[in-house]
Amino acid sequence: MSVIAIDGTFASGKGTLGKGLAAHYGLPYLDTGKLYRATAKRVLDAGGDVTSSVDGARAAKSIKTDELSDPILKSGPIGAAASKVSVHPAVRAALFDFQRDFAAKGGVLDGRDIGTVICPDADVKLYVTASPEERAKRRHAELRGYGEQVSVEEVLAQLIERDTRDSTRATAPLKPAADAHMIDTTGMSISEVLNAAIAICDAVLKR
Ligand code: DC
Repeated sequence: MSVIAIDGTFASGKGTLGKGLAAHYGLPYLDTGKLYRATAKRVLDAGGDVTSSVDGARAAKSIKTDELSDPILKSGPIGAAASKVSVHPAVRAALFDFQRDFAAKGGVLDGRDIGTVICPDADVKLYVTASPEERAKRRHAELRGYGEQVSVEEVLAQLIERDTRDSTRATAPLKPAADAHMIDTTGMSISEVLNAAIAICDAVLKR
């Protein structure tokens, strides 16, 4: 079974692409950001602190698949808390087996360290990004859809803060794997991005 690893910056369109590729190839899909989001939610619900490695690791240990579909996980505050909780090596270690077990059966996984740490032997590795301004516009529209009142400027500032934290942390920072195929989605429609990724995957998977 094939494994397609997708990494990329916040709001780059990697989730939409992951779902599209999974549907196209008939593979299961895992949004690994949800694991960090569910962990952050557990810490916050328990009155804990996301900057505490102990609180984070305790919460990450027993994350269950059914928790990942809670719509609250998509909110801006949970995303920011997830970025903070994901800095702890103990949290990342606690979520490692869940992701490896999923990948063992074949599938599409998206996140920040899939091609570098979780699935270094993935059949295809994609790295997705877009300009900060375009990502801020997309994320702003999405948050408005959930009823959150924020300006594009605020979203842009949060996005830069998040990218910086995700890519400068000591453990498993966001970075393209050496053998990743880069896709810059700036100015591209969802179907253009999907078609570009399918062309790469077909060539690599020899379909
Ligand atoms: O992709 P997302 O916005 O749902 O991810 C939320 C946070 O979780 C992100 O800012 C960093 C962290 N994360 C991570 O460290 N590693 C992953 N594989 C996925 C997400």
